[in-house]
Amino acid sequence: MDVSEAIRKRYSCRAYQDRVVEQEKLATVLEAARLAPSAKNLQDWRFVVATDRNTKAKLAEAANNQSFLKNAGAIIAGCSVNKEVMRCGQALGPIDVAIALEHMALQATELGLATCWIGSFYPEKVRAILGIPEDVAIIELMALGYPAEAQKQQKREPIEHIISYEVWGF
Ligand SMILES: Cc1cc2nc3c(=O)[nH]c(=O)nc-3n(C[C@H](O)[C@H](O)[C@H](O)COP(=O)(O)O)c2cc1C
Repeated sequence: MDVSEAIRKRYSCRAYQDRVVEQEKLATVLEAARLAPSAKNLQDWRFVVATDRNTKAKLAEAANNQSFLKNAGAIIAGCSVNKEVMRCGQALGPIDVAIALEHMALQATELGLATCWIGSFYPEKVRAILGIPEDVAIIELMALGYPAEAQKQQKREPIEHIISYEVWGF
């Protein structure tokens, strides 16, 4: 599968088979995060991978009771140990972690796995469940596993709504 196909096939999967993700596939997905770009190449991201059934059930509850998470083979917490703000005024932590998570999502797609970004969660609950220190920002969770549903194509804005050339044209 090439990148273009992975981009088109990725979707937010909200129904997973109760099935373990093989260690080799999981390692390939995590390697995609390791290879992602980061500001100043700091790589100040950390990922906690939960595969334990009990832990996943607790995380599902901490994620606003999104119960489909329980069945995912893994729930990955994308964290940042960096609080720096770049010259552009944006924090680098969330940006770097987001890039790495999307690398994982695309790699997972190539491997026949599915993912779902999870931003609806209570960070303090996740912190307690996973033992994440107070000074570490929990940016996003990502579900990873074998899909139990077909791809759902979500609507996207037409290109002219989101792109302008040379100057702001909206
Ligand atoms: C930062 C972020 C947070 C999200 N949080 C959730 C979430 O908590 N629960 C959920 O079911 N989907 C979540 N999503 C998935 C979006 O709803 C989804 O990406 C969007 O509807 C487009 O659909 P698609 O991913 O299938 O193309 C999140 C996506 C992003 C990028």
